[in-house]
Amino acid sequence: MQPVVVAIDGPSGSGKSSVSRAVARHFGYGYLDTGAMYRAVTVYCLRQGIDLSDADAVVAAAEELPLGLGADPDDPAVTLDEEDIAAAIRTSEVSAVVSAVATNLGVRAVLQDAQRELIDAIAEDWGGVVAEGRDITTVVAPDADVRVLLTASEEARLARRSTELHGSADEAAVAATHDQIVRRDRDDSTVSQFTEAADGVVLLDTSALDFDGSVGALVEIVTATLAR
Ligand code: DC
Repeated sequence: MQPVVVAIDGPSGSGKSSVSRAVARHFGYGYLDTGAMYRAVTVYCLRQGIDLSDADAVVAAAEELPLGLGADPDDPAVTLDEEDIAAAIRTSEVSAVVSAVATNLGVRAVLQDAQRELIDAIAEDWGGVVAEGRDITTVVAPDADVRVLLTASEEARLARRSTELHGSADEAAVAATHDQIVRRDRDDSTVSQFTEAADGVVLLDTSALDFDGSVGALVEIVTATLAR
């Protein structure tokens, strides 16, 4: 059997990462979080004292990045020179500036090439891969067997992220989350189009679905698409 490639895109708070991991687990496939790669470049630059506005220096950092990525959806390890940076890439400090790296077109070209190689290698090893990001259905893997854009209303996305970050979706917590999420998606959308489904991409709106409902809906889409 040919290895299966499932490509998932979507904005922050669409449930993309957790849902993609659960779907990979369901099918016994490997998992690739491409956002973790932009975050790892950011951590590396901050540690090396590289100015994120120095576009060439950041591209050079992406090229020499000693990155290790695990494909196990139960434990998607992220390492720099063997050091575990899974927590370091999720800090608010990194989230606040990662768009500066993700909007650097030279960095995108380097990481997109690396992502294509990883997708092939993981799919080969695991019999399939679920790869998620902002441009996987359109630029990185436009020939993927299954391509899905996960969306959710801004209200639903803010409530989810706010609960994740602040443990609550009350007014103050949502306000604190708003700038981070909405601004970042606005910046990121200048380089990738992830708010409308491209031709041939299935749109899944999770606004009214909980986690299990979202996973079930995505499993159904993958199963139906592969059966065609
Ligand atoms: O999904 P995330 O928050 O971990 O993504 C981190 C950053 O990288 C965010 O600014 C979006 C960007 N990104 C991207 O531009 N293209 C991808 N394929 C994945 C993430």
